[in-house]
Amino acid sequence: MTAIVGFGGYVPERVMTNEDWSKLVDTTDEWITSRTGIKERRFAADDESTLDLAAIAAERALKDAGLTADDIDEIIVATDTPEVYTPDTASFLQYRLGCRNIPTYDLGGSGCAGFVQGLDVARARIHFEPKRILVIGVELISRLINWEDRATSVLFGDAAGAVIMDSGSGRAEVLAVLAGTDGSKADILTLQTGGTRHPFTAEAAARGDHQRLDMNGREVFREAVRRMSGVVEDVLDQIGKRLEDVALIVPHQANLRIIDAVGKKLGASENQVYVNVDRYGNTGSASVPLALWEANEEGLIKEGDLVVLTAFGAGFHWAAAALQF
Ligand code: ACO
Repeated sequence: MTAIVGFGGYVPERVMTNEDWSKLVDTTDEWITSRTGIKERRFAADDESTLDLAAIAAERALKDAGLTADDIDEIIVATDTPEVYTPDTASFLQYRLGCRNIPTYDLGGSGCAGFVQGLDVARARIHFEPKRILVIGVELISRLINWEDRATSVLFGDAAGAVIMDSGSGRAEVLAVLAGTDGSKADILTLQTGGTRHPFTAEAAARGDHQRLDMNGREVFREAVRRMSGVVEDVLDQIGKRLEDVALIVPHQANLRIIDAVGKKLGASENQVYVNVDRYGNTGSASVPLALWEANEEGLIKEGDLVVLTAFGAGFHWAAAALQF
């Protein structure tokens, strides 16, 4: 048996509203709200880095679990906006938290599905050998996007979310995790510069390519709805449950219209689907653990509740997890 024994989250203090964006680029609160449901998002302070966000969420999860850094046996950090290119953010985090010389690694590049994929890896590792694993989703995307590209910049925010997984029972038993990838759709959402195909050069930087996020918004929208709803159905099938048994669905918070379409496709009622995209925007791999942490803090999840997490991300990846509280 695998369980989550602690939850944590963190959002930076600086609030960036739609009004703020309308002073920087040619956009309006009306456009952003009607297309995305986002009203504001948080941006990290100039002296904050990915590691700072991750460390605060991790410390909150440790406190929530009644554990210390010494109790952690492994760390997985899901992020597309790492502290540096090499080494991974997890190495820095292991030292910052004061953990033993345990194995740590990043799951990078899987966009907003990274955290739920991390749960899948952690669960398999715990089945193999009982241990406590800290799984984090963190994103500091405001520093890596082109603020002048109104088609993408207004969508995102910075945040971190964390859980601690353990063998045996805990606050939420992980009943099942499913994940999938369709690499034929790898080109619909990319941050290309910096890899071997498009190395980071002075010429690339002069063109602004180092901050170029390419997104086919409509195709991402279609795939997101199809995959996030499909994987919820699959994970419920696997545990022999139906939508009526689910107390709360915690979807990746990319866009309110995507979340609404997923709920509609599944036949879920409004209060079965958790939403905080209005306050934080799309926080990438931090979105699902942050929402899970908030839903818990708000007392929306009670003992006995079945909660389903669902996410999609660049790749194109998707993943879902069924949690029995
Ligand atoms: N403000 C004002 N106008 C804008 C803005 C903006 N911020 N951004 C784009 N526009 C304009 C466009 O230039 C376009 O103008 P045109 O018709 O003169 O060419 C017009 O608005 C319509 O643009 P569309 O792209 O057709 O708008 P659409 O209704 O498709 O909405 C959106 C765009 C919100 C991006 C939508 O496609 C979407 O939600 N897609 C999914 C995106 C997403 O969630 N990505 C996830 C990122 S990563 C992840 O979560 C894995």
